[in-house]
Amino acid sequence: MFKVDSILRLVGRTPMVRINKLADPNGAELWAKVEYLNPGGSVKDRIALHIVEGFERDGLLKPGGTVVEATSGNMGVGLAMVCAVKGYKAILVMFDKASDEKRRLARALGAEVVICPADVPADDPRSYYSVARRITDETPGAVLANQYHNPANIQAHYETTGPEIWEQTDGRIDALVAGMGTGGTITGAARYLKEKKPDIKIWAADPYGSILKTYKETGEITEGSQYLVEGIGDDMVPGALDLDLVDEIANVSDEESFHVARMLARQEGILGGGSTGTIVKVALDVAAAMRPDQVVVTIIPDTGERYLSKLYSDEWMRLKGLLSQEMMTLQQLAQLKSQELPGIVSADPRSTVREALDQMATYNVSQLPVLDGPRNVGSVKESNLLALALEEATVLDRSVDDVMGEPFPMVEESSSVTRSIQLLIEHPGVVLARDSQPVGFITRHDVINYTDKS
Ligand SMILES: Cc1ncc(COP(=O)(O)O)c(C=O)c1O
Repeated sequence: MFKVDSILRLVGRTPMVRINKLADPNGAELWAKVEYLNPGGSVKDRIALHIVEGFERDGLLKPGGTVVEATSGNMGVGLAMVCAVKGYKAILVMFDKASDEKRRLARALGAEVVICPADVPADDPRSYYSVARRITDETPGAVLANQYHNPANIQAHYETTGPEIWEQTDGRIDALVAGMGTGGTITGAARYLKEKKPDIKIWAADPYGSILKTYKETGEITEGSQYLVEGIGDDMVPGALDLDLVDEIANVSDEESFHVARMLARQEGILGGGSTGTIVKVALDVAAAMRPDQVVVTIIPDTGERYLSKLYSDEWMRLKGLLSQEMMTLQQLAQLKSQELPGIVSADPRSTVREALDQMATYNVSQLPVLDGPRNVGSVKESNLLALALEEATVLDRSVDDVMGEPFPMVEESSSVTRSIQLLIEHPGVVLARDSQPVGFITRHDVINYTDKS
């Protein structure tokens, strides 16, 4: 056990946790840096501390001074915590869409909270940027933290997040997947990591409705649209974001984001916010497309406890029309899959291992149920078959029933996806049955890949 002389000493040095069940077993190792384990519950603690200490060093913040910020919430909590310890006043300007929990948290830590509309352009005098600027100008001894344009934001991640990721992966990292709010996390961490290993791929996850993906790909500033995920995506290009360091951007819908966040909580025990879902969705896809000897790191920016009345509330999700995947049956899921794969792809127990491997390669799958007519008799996995064949090449000519494993469990296709989750946690796949006859096969990965496209 250790003890520290101030809560602020606990900012940073967050642990990295392996993503086990949700990650494709044939893809890269996937690790999540759990930023909600910072004492203020988000990645923003790092920059709140760095920015305030920068103001102190530069003589901009004197005892009794005030720190003002426009913030979607987490920066406010971080700043409120830092100001509470250091004896400054914090005035936080928040969007009206920021969750109630975030406002209450900032107030609990002694900050003053001012609410502004989210649906006005950044240059409107009612926008949260404009209001924060006006309050700073009108308050004696006040400084604007200005996380969207303050170089100390990038610097905090360059000096802490980047080196921590490098050290925690022993330099093995091949790809980083992060979100872009102010852009500080991805820019600072990517700058450090690319200096260490220039061919690291930097992926950004961006909500549909944000302008950043289009801007990166076309150079055009388009009109953004509203989305429900908080903390990431923009309707302008922040000064703390260097898009030259970002190799690829993938868009994710609110529905996909919230669904993945809920799965991450239920299956990995990692309770992140909505943006966690956006980012982890991209990280799962990126890792699945890479090799098992490669390493992908992703960021969990904040805690899901801040969204209990939102994405973790079934009522709220239903109200927003976002719960369809929970009502989905395995049959509906199989139909989505059958647009890419014919009916049920299986192996015959009398076929050879070589034929089973060919079948997997043809359909780009890594496991198959073994069916003897209508009987579900066993299972084969590409990784096991290849390992056996490496040891003894003649295995390729043996019959499947000589080497197959236990059959996958059978479930009636009318069962709901949600009710089958526990089985899919225990087994990599399930065989779907209609009147006890096998008619389809669903894997864990299908649940992630297809349920959020409903
Ligand atoms: C919930 C959440 N996710 C992600 C981010 C993105 O981090 P950054 O601002 O460093 O780009 C933020 C920032 O506000 C956030 O609050």
